[in-house]
Amino acid sequence: MTIRKIIVAIDGHSSCGKSTIAKAVAARFGYAFIDSGAMYRAVTLYALRHDLVADGQVKKDELIQALPQIKIEFRHNSSLQKSDTYLNGENVEEEIRQLPVSQNVSPVATIAEVRAAMVRLQKEMSKNKAIVMDGRDIGTVVFPEAELKLFVTATAEIRAKRRFDELTAKGETVSYDEILQNVQERDHIDSTREASPLRKADDALVLDNSAMTREEQLEWVIEKVKERLNF
Ligand code: CDP
Repeated sequence: MTIRKIIVAIDGHSSCGKSTIAKAVAARFGYAFIDSGAMYRAVTLYALRHDLVADGQVKKDELIQALPQIKIEFRHNSSLQKSDTYLNGENVEEEIRQLPVSQNVSPVATIAEVRAAMVRLQKEMSKNKAIVMDGRDIGTVVFPEAELKLFVTATAEIRAKRRFDELTAKGETVSYDEILQNVQERDHIDSTREASPLRKADDALVLDNSAMTREEQLEWVIEKVKERLNF
């Protein structure tokens, strides 16, 4: 008997814990996890380094021209049992999570040509199904046929607090207010852009995790995956 393989699409607002859920679900079912946000972040890092974006202003035409020079991959980090993001052969996993990238990524992600290039790569990486992918447009644009779609959210204040705790735990000095402002700004840009705006797919299940622990939400999601797999 062949075991059914499905695609799990997890979309939602900034810093709502999508990646945490996606990683845990992938580990539980032996699926691959793909962090589509890391890809937009890597493009943004390239743009920052080449002066193609600053203070949220993107040199759109030049960035579009540079797209063929931007190679993004995920490589397994065996010592930490996770996957790291590589930009043109360099491990940029840490740098893409820092505030300068967060502050410029949403404007970069509004560009339709950037999105088309990332979506192509996301589809290529997912040929064999058995994947969990998180992002903003996974259930609506990248995999409208996904067997399970989740739309995750929580209040902006709770999300900012979680991101603040995460960065502080890594030893970074960050301001809560600055993070809250970034979360709200990204929500606004992501939801109002013309190309593939963040929205709940009609058939997505909503998961508001404002008052849930990680364990509770994971249990909830695992049940939904099992239902789709007919366990
Ligand atoms: O983890 P966090 O919520 O901070 O965001 P992310 O998933 O790393 O995504 C960073 C940014 O990339 C988002 O704010 C979006 O602007 C963009 N993005 C997107 O447009 N489409 C996706 N599928 C994933 C991310």
